[in-house]
Amino acid sequence: MKRSALLIGALLLAGCRQDMHDAPRLEPLEKSDFWGDERGSRPLVEGTVARGQLHDDDEMYTGKVGTAFTTNFPMPVTKQVVERGQSRFQIYCTPCHGALGKGDGMVVRRGYRQPPSFHDARLQQQPAGYFYDVITNGFGAMPDYRAQIPEASDRWAIVAYVRALQLSQNATLADVPEGERGKLAAPTASEVGHKPESGTLPPSTQGNPLSQMKHEGGGAHGSRGDEQPHQQQEPQQQEQH
Ligand code: HEC
Repeated sequence: MKRSALLIGALLLAGCRQDMHDAPRLEPLEKSDFWGDERGSRPLVEGTVARGQLHDDDEMYTGKVGTAFTTNFPMPVTKQVVERGQSRFQIYCTPCHGALGKGDGMVVRRGYRQPPSFHDARLQQQPAGYFYDVITNGFGAMPDYRAQIPEASDRWAIVAYVRALQLSQNATLADVPEGERGKLAAPTASEVGHKPESGTLPPSTQGNPLSQMKHEGGGAHGSRGDEQPHQQQEPQQQEQH
């Protein structure tokens, strides 16, 4: 008697069993009559910010303080940052701007509108935030690189590298640490004539901006096999007052 009651109970329970994998729920974007607008997925509450997406640092995310472009780097500029900037620059900017930022990239040589050189006085004098803004919003014929370079920190890294390029093409003897100057070849007569007031770096190093500062025990850095010795002077020295 007891046994059959148990059996019946077990059978009844099995009959109304509902598996967890089949729990009542709405699939994403499924229609629901529960809501007036029949949308199963509810619209986000206004002002909702996804985790990690609270861009409340205007300087970092717009390149501006108030309405003016910032002259500062809103994050520390380390050697790693400049190297990151170099790699991003070489991917996203050299096709048009060229490896040195002179505006002679391959796309331009094939007929795209030529950008100005980063070494023009006007662009040398632009604040860091201006470059961040051009990357983020584009400029004239140049499309924006907001989607290709989604991280603000990468855009700033590129700006830091552009600063390094600018320094490299306009460096004077005074920019070279005193102890290192002896390693530089004496300027040739034509260079002295060209720029009489300042020392000039030897022409052999002018092709590669990061090779202008030779460093001891070369090769220690070349993890990717690139032979470029790295610059020792950080570009933020120009920026951070
Ligand atoms: C598809 C080609 C192209 C690429 C890629 C490109 N640019 Fe440009 N850039 C241009 C052109 C063309 C101009 C000039 C636009 C004009 O004057 O209408 C320009 C202008 C600029 C200027 C000068 C704006 C001024 O005030 O004259 C800066 C700074 C700049 N680009 C930075 C960058 C950086 C940094 C990158 C890489 C993230 C980049 N560009 C990638 C084509 C390009």
